[in-house]
Amino acid sequence: MAKYIVHQSGPLRGEVQISGAKNAVLPLMAAALLSEEECVIRDVPILRDVSLMKKILTSLGSEIHELGENILSVTTKDILSTEADFELVNKMRASILVMGPLLARKGRARIPLPGGCAIGARPIDLHLKGFEALGAQLTVGDDYVEAVAGPQGLIGDTLYLDFPSVGATENIMMAAVLADGVTYIENAAKEPEIVDLANFLNKMGAKIKGAGTDTIKIEGVKTLGGAKHTVVPDRIEAGTFMLAAAITRGAVHICNTLPDHLKPIIAKLRECGVRIEVGDDDLIVRGDLGPQFATDIKTLPYPGFPTDIQSPFMAYLTTVEGSSTVIETVFENRFMHVAQLGKMGASIETAGNKANVRGNAKLRGCQVMATDLRAGAALVLAGLVAEGTTEISEIYHIERGYEKFIEKFSKLGATIVRVDD
Ligand code: UD1
Repeated sequence: MAKYIVHQSGPLRGEVQISGAKNAVLPLMAAALLSEEECVIRDVPILRDVSLMKKILTSLGSEIHELGENILSVTTKDILSTEADFELVNKMRASILVMGPLLARKGRARIPLPGGCAIGARPIDLHLKGFEALGAQLTVGDDYVEAVAGPQGLIGDTLYLDFPSVGATENIMMAAVLADGVTYIENAAKEPEIVDLANFLNKMGAKIKGAGTDTIKIEGVKTLGGAKHTVVPDRIEAGTFMLAAAITRGAVHICNTLPDHLKPIIAKLRECGVRIEVGDDDLIVRGDLGPQFATDIKTLPYPGFPTDIQSPFMAYLTTVEGSSTVIETVFENRFMHVAQLGKMGASIETAGNKANVRGNAKLRGCQVMATDLRAGAALVLAGLVAEGTTEISEIYHIERGYEKFIEKFSKLGATIVRVDD
């Protein structure tokens, strides 16, 4: 199994280009199943999760070509199978996103229950509730779920999500675009990736309004055509590099980003004493201008503080003056990095979904494990400032979601080496 060896580094300095968002490109690729025409997606990050989604789409009948380094062409003249492969789906939770498009286009979808990062139970009840509201009949087996539309196909309706789930909002939106009549998704997720998906679907000919607000209105259409689209920049990757600047007390220019999507991270870092200059599509993060102090964070659905930045931010909070409280409200089991940071010398106490982080930790390198994607990023950040070297195992998690990770960090002056055991 491959590992990262992270060496203690000085302040990171320089410029980093942010890639297209993992969490946007996966639903966009799934949406390409909705049309028999060609969809061209630009700024596609080269990631393990994208390769997996390519394999899943190909197994369902899509033809996929690379038109350039980060450009994918996806054409699905016909859906050859409405059943996704167990091995592929089991590796990535986002594979559930093919269910809405399959159901919309073929009236049927059978999916093994999805895998992915082990951050809690992560049920799919809200996705299924949505499909049911559109008239699908569900069968849930031990290790699969099947949805079948009625003879008239899916029928638009009003439905309310008990929680603004990102995946459920996307899946239901994709199911509803070809339904008969109008669908309203109430208490919808408002993440930028939802807006990106709605923009792409509208380019394909869908009639979606209100994406990015609590209520999304989808007027069903008969067919969708092809479209060309550029993926929105990855706000979680941008946040990770902002924290890399802060934790190493460096200065990093973050390019190709949308600062509007980063408001909670900008606000919280400023509270800690980091200076941030905000441009139209870039940021300069100065962690090198004086002492930094504790702050409290609480994760929430967008536009609240993103759960995906909770663990990298916690790594940073171990290095500031004073004690901070971190509350995780989106996932019920997202403190697995705490034990790993503890091995490195951090002092963090947890009780339920609340963590108390003592600052001024003297971190030291040791052997740790990336328990999920963002936990892995947190350990890399901690490793950059820990004395000695930090050996991180299970790095496939990190490679699921960060494009050219080592290359980007190296350009900023870090030394991270990937070794095969
Ligand atoms: C997406 C992101 C992930 C991010 C998360 C929250 C992708 C590929 N992944 O994941 O990086 O951390 O949003 O911002 O976009 N839930 C249910 N029932 C459901 C669906 C979700 O109870 O049917 C719960 C989950 O267990 C979790 C919460 O809702 O506690 C949020 O999940 P959700 O917003 O659906 O996250 P994902 O779409 O899986």
